Amino acid sequence: MAQTQTPTINQIDPAVKKIIDEILVDNRDKPGATMVILNEVQSKVGYISAPLQSYIADELKIPVSKIHGVVSFYSFFTTTPRGKHTVKFCMGTACYVGGVEQLLDKANQALGIKAGETTPDGLITIEICRCVGACSQAPVIVVDENVQGRVKPNKMPQILRSLQEEEK
Ligand code: FES
Repeated sequence: MAQTQTPTINQIDPAVKKIIDEILVDNRDKPGATMVILNEVQSKVGYISAPLQSYIADELKIPVSKIHGVVSFYSFFTTTPRGKHTVKFCMGTACYVGGVEQLLDKANQALGIKAGETTPDGLITIEICRCVGACSQAPVIVVDENVQGRVKPNKMPQILRSLQEEEK
């Protein structure tokens, strides 16, 4: 009797499944295969959603809870696609004391999204991160790969606007 496909496989875009299958073939026998595979999927697909986690767990014959544990522990992994630009807010001690929360509040208000979310147009994701090693310049944000220190709350809308205007 023909086996019916599980719903999780049906939720995966065939192009995404092809990328994941290639990653599995290349890496499944390597030491630490789970981490290697998840890193590759994050880099090449851009996210590891719940259906992707189930598919990878089935393929590796490990519990999905193990995959989920890794994906939720490391901030590098995301379960939804990141926006074109990422703005990270350092929540290390110096930045926290230096008022990074006010910067995050400003970004929340300006964009209408919370940390971990992406604007509906797919342009900007905001995230929190750990110390990026620029504590003397607290409070620090990282716009894409660019570290910006001593950011004032009233500058936040302008920083975000410049990302939006780049696209026009
Ligand atoms: S605490 Fe933010 S850069 Fe170190």
